[in-house]
Amino acid sequence: MESRRKFIQQVSSLGIATAGLSIFNPLHARSLDEKLRQVDGQDPRLVARDEDFWYHVQRAYVQSPHFINLESGYFSPQPQEVLEAQIRNIRMINEQPSYYMRERQLEEKLVVKKKLAQLAGVSHEEIVITRNTTEALDTIILGMDLQPGDEAIMTNQDYGSMLETFEQRAQRNGILTRVIDIPLWPKNKLEVVRAFEKAVTPRTKVILVTHLINLTGQILPAREIADMAHERGIDVIVDAAHSFAHLDYKIPELDCDYYGTSLHKWLCAPLGAGMLYMKKEKIAKTWPLFGDTGLPKDDIRKFEHIGTHPVSTHLTLASAIEFHNSIGARRKEERLRYLKNYWVNQVRDIPGVTINTPLADEQSCALANVSVKGMTPAELAAFFMDKYKIFTVGIDTVAVKGVRVTPHLYTRLDQLDLLVTAIREAVGA
Ligand SMILES: Cc1ncc(COP(=O)(O)O)c(C=O)c1O
Repeated sequence: MESRRKFIQQVSSLGIATAGLSIFNPLHARSLDEKLRQVDGQDPRLVARDEDFWYHVQRAYVQSPHFINLESGYFSPQPQEVLEAQIRNIRMINEQPSYYMRERQLEEKLVVKKKLAQLAGVSHEEIVITRNTTEALDTIILGMDLQPGDEAIMTNQDYGSMLETFEQRAQRNGILTRVIDIPLWPKNKLEVVRAFEKAVTPRTKVILVTHLINLTGQILPAREIADMAHERGIDVIVDAAHSFAHLDYKIPELDCDYYGTSLHKWLCAPLGAGMLYMKKEKIAKTWPLFGDTGLPKDDIRKFEHIGTHPVSTHLTLASAIEFHNSIGARRKEERLRYLKNYWVNQVRDIPGVTINTPLADEQSCALANVSVKGMTPAELAAFFMDKYKIFTVGIDTVAVKGVRVTPHLYTRLDQLDLLVTAIREAVGA
């Protein structure tokens, strides 16, 4: 809390210096501090429904008055105080350009990296700050030591870029990809683990697990899949684009070998920030995408060799982490799940409405997918936007057909009430 207060003071004095450019309101930030003190020690499940508290969190963000954003899955905005920090960092680097890059960037990036590693529960010597999940996971998929005939297991609900990168390795190096089906509404974790296990052969070298599926919001039992894989000497890559800073966990709990996430989604960091994690013992065996022969093979920094890049984005991660920590990971997860349940529970039993997301607490959190009989996903998403100015996204794949609805901390209950009204009208209820 002390560091958050210092941070607000810094930002608010900058607010004066840049008057006219900024809409950051330090009074809002201070009232949020006050509210955070009030909920300190309270059960996060109870805080999840404390609208007075969340009103103060919502005010940390600025949303467009022209539509309701229920598509936070693509990327999520920064709270105003984080955006101000980014602007400050851009200005600071712009004032000291090459001097900053030559003399200060390494030291300051390391401070941020350590803070990010702490949030993830791993060593800073096992992570790299990347631009996004795609860069993190492509580095792994393209850099793993795979031989012709080696097999990789993935699902038809994984993210397209990862499937394509594996397919590229199939075409280029002769590996074999096994793309499996997984159930939309599994009864339990075992059913999902079994689906992966059935695809294992003596040639299986790696399994890709999407921790929280972007299409439906289903959470896969990543740890149980990793345990099954490790018993058979198989490596596990976790696509955590949607689970990091959304679900309350630390990476070692998953016991995966490789992991990638985007920080511009649930952490609300600046656009274009991600993280790659690799178990220490895997680093030496994995090739970097951009050649680096100067560092020891087992030094994670060999993956950082990407050329000149916007360091302001890296620096601002410190502020995004600060904001996330001040809300509290457990409180955030409980609120996000509460928001999903709030609208889903009002429509799930209406004839003609299908929720394409398993709803047990361990199976989903903020994100859910809804379909309405007689409408394509694109038609339903267009109806929400045209009639109610609610922005969502239609998902139309072989495995999943429906509209993805993704609230975030800035989402208000009255916005979800309007979604419920829209769904009722769409289905003719
Ligand atoms: C499951 C999953 N993996 C990977 C990605 C790619 O993320 P990015 O575009 O930030 O690299 C996404 C993006 O939405 C995703 O949902």
